[in-house]
Amino acid sequence: MPVILAPMAGITDVAYRTLCREQAAAAAPDGHPGLFVCEMITSRGLVEGDATTKSMLCFDEGESVRSVQLYGTDPAHLGKAAEILCGEYGVNHVDLNFGCPVPKVTRRGGGAALPWKRSLLGATLRSVVAAAAPYGVPVTVKTRKGIDEDHLTFLEAGRIAADCGVAAIALHGRTAIQGYSGQADWDSIAELVAGTSIPVLGNGDIWEASDARRMVARTGVAGVVVGRGCLGRPWLFRDLAGEFAGNPSVELPRLGEVAAMMRRHAELLARYQGEERGCKEFRKHVSWYLKGFRAGGELRHALALIGTLAELDSLLGKLDPDEPFPVGELGHPRGRQGAPRRSVVLPQGWLDARDDVVHMAPEETHEAGGG
Ligand SMILES: Cc1cc2nc3c(=O)[nH]c(=O)nc-3n(C[C@H](O)[C@H](O)[C@H](O)COP(=O)(O)O)c2cc1C
Repeated sequence: MPVILAPMAGITDVAYRTLCREQAAAAAPDGHPGLFVCEMITSRGLVEGDATTKSMLCFDEGESVRSVQLYGTDPAHLGKAAEILCGEYGVNHVDLNFGCPVPKVTRRGGGAALPWKRSLLGATLRSVVAAAAPYGVPVTVKTRKGIDEDHLTFLEAGRIAADCGVAAIALHGRTAIQGYSGQADWDSIAELVAGTSIPVLGNGDIWEASDARRMVARTGVAGVVVGRGCLGRPWLFRDLAGEFAGNPSVELPRLGEVAAMMRRHAELLARYQGEERGCKEFRKHVSWYLKGFRAGGELRHALALIGTLAELDSLLGKLDPDEPFPVGELGHPRGRQGAPRRSVVLPQGWLDARDDVVHMAPEETHEAGGG
């Protein structure tokens, strides 16, 4: 059963993907470790040769499948970007973001707003699939249920994707207006499985390996996509690989093992970004790793300010390695949740027609990710 690390802006960089891949490989040494998708990059940034965009396209030598999520609004630009990814960066899988609910993105008709325009969606998919085809690179799409309950898009997106030669479609079982609030609707995922001829990947609210198994049983998906559940818990990929290999994990990590994982994460960040930037980048992960543990406020605060690996080592040494995993955290949401949005910001008249020809302004070079 394919297990996929969801693209998460600011999270799924080369260090984090490597960490999750190492964990998966530990539980399934002979099996395929899964798919670990890079942070979203913009087609504009790639086509214009933007330095930050290029720096995000960094892969570990053990990363045998280079998987990248592209975001864009213009079919031709996206096609060109896909060609650059395949031809110049040796990328083996291109995913397209049609799920971002961020106002800056939907205001331009991008992300979760785009599938509403059926002709535009078709043109976009055909352009990217044609660009990737000479390289034998599969293209997938990741989307939401729709804009809101009155403007659902996922079933048609599934049909259009199949007609355009897309290899698989991932569905996050929420609408854009829901943001990350409420519960993901797994029934919509099952509906998509029944409604399209291509493989469906289920996404939303997998907090434990057992949730992934439940999603597969309930929806019939061909694979699962896991995002927030692995924040501060890269070993979820070990658990998921074990669960699907028929070897469910029973061991919960004690604080000492979590500290070792934190050290490995920071070390990988330092390897790819340099020690100073890597340590700074690591800070945002600290509270996720320590969620539910007793570690005192002062220590947490100090860990969230580390500047060197030596400092990190000295602070991690103060944690009680035998403290058991806080079982109360199991099965609970982590990361972004929040309240539903009041509205989804869309271009003027966007909802009036679905098959009109729309000329899209290109996206910004750097966009806030989400999906
Ligand atoms: C911090 C963060 C960044 C995200 N960035 C992206 C992104 O760039 N592209 C995308 O398609 N989804 C993005 N997402 C959405 C996730 O990929 C996933 O669809 C969503 O979190 C639901 O899955 P989950 O319940 O397993 O977290 C992001 C989510 C979070 C929490």
